[in-house]
Amino acid sequence: MATSIGTAPLAVALCALLALTAVGGARAWTPMSPSYYDYSCPSVHDTVRRVIQEARVANPRAPASLLRLHFHDCFVNGCDGSVLLDNAGAMQSEKNAPPNNGSARGFDVVDTIKAALENACPGVVSCADILALAAEISVELSGGPSWNVVLGRRDGTTANFDGASELPGPRDAVGLLRQKFSDLGLDDTDFVALQGAHTIGRAQCRLFNDRLYNISGTMQPDQTLDMAYLNELRQCCPASEPESTTLRNLDPPTPDAFDNSFYANIVRNRGLLQSDQGMLSAPGGAAATTAPIVVRFAGSQDDFFQSFATAMIKMGNIGSLTGSLGEIRRNCRVVNRG
Ligand code: HEM
Ligand SMILES: *[C@@H]1O[C@H](CO)[C@@H](O)[C@H](O)[C@H]1NC(C)=O
Ligand SMILES: *[C@@H]1O[C@H](CO)[C@@H](O)[C@H](O)[C@H]1NC(C)=O
Repeated sequence: MATSIGTAPLAVALCALLALTAVGGARAWTPMSPSYYDYSCPSVHDTVRRVIQEARVANPRAPASLLRLHFHDCFVNGCDGSVLLDNAGAMQSEKNAPPNNGSARGFDVVDTIKAALENACPGVVSCADILALAAEISVELSGGPSWNVVLGRRDGTTANFDGASELPGPRDAVGLLRQKFSDLGLDDTDFVALQGAHTIGRAQCRLFNDRLYNISGTMQPDQTLDMAYLNELRQCCPASEPESTTLRNLDPPTPDAFDNSFYANIVRNRGLLQSDQGMLSAPGGAAATTAPIVVRFAGSQDDFFQSFATAMIKMGNIGSLTGSLGEIRRNCRVVNRG
């Protein structure tokens, strides 16, 4: 008795919801939300998680590479999957822009996720959403915070090579970096927290070689770099090979664990990239607003995790295409038409 009373209204509610979703989809009105695919592709979370878990066994760096892809996607034309497009005709892929060329990776994992989702629910899940979900799951699998990923982005139909060329660079001054973030609505706390993504992943010697031998053309090493760490890095990254692609861990103490030791490194003058250390040590007062945040995150992993999750949600909201704008790409590397 209790069961039949309980289930009937539930079934009615469910039908109503399904109907709403169908109508909303047809009119392209469905608002973005964490439950966007609950009816149209209920396996989306499990599928993305499974593929990343498999990729991670083969390559411990995979979660880091996927997290970075979402960042590089959102900062160029908003989170629209534009970073995933290959060269096509006159359209120049963002993948070849200097900040990505020989450096952005994980595209094969995205292809595997997309293929699995096209199999389970064809034409439903956008490539932009795959990147947003993959970023969250990558952080969670690495021991970091979790958050509800808002879904319902649609894919852009063009790449922006010039935009990608302006992505934040490791040699940009902290003032310019803060500007690049604030232009997108990300404040100093977001800026410092998001760079905490460098708690996982690797960087190539060529991207910090100048710090070891010739910072700003001075023929001196970067004075803000700990001496022992400097000598350690010089062993792997010789002066004679400024273009070396040899990899170093961005967070040597715990290279694949998402934690706050990245900030502890900076406090000890052991930030790997000039942009990392600059948040604390940039000269002339340039780090006045960011330094206290670095110190706070070094002292509290909870603070870092909360701020990181908040900032990731903000970053994930940048200029998303919704409604009838854009499309749901069938193959993340090419637009559907043309
Ligand atoms: C000031 C802004 C930033 C600068 C200048 C910057 C720069 C870099 C550089 C130079 C690398 C090494 C790339 C290579 O050697 O191939 C790197 C790696 C990485 N970045 Fe950033 N980054 C910034 C912000 C971010 C943000 C906001 C995220 C994500 C939320 C992020 C996530 C990552 C990850 C996870 C890696 C490792 C990737 C891998 O191992 O494949 N970065 N970043
Ligand atoms: C990308 O890097 C490769 C290898 O270093 C280089 O040959 C190519 O010219 C670069 N592409 C662009 C567009 O700069
Ligand atoms: C040092 O850096 C400057 C400018 O950044 C560059 O012009 C010069 O060639 C470099 N010197 C050496 C020996 O690498």
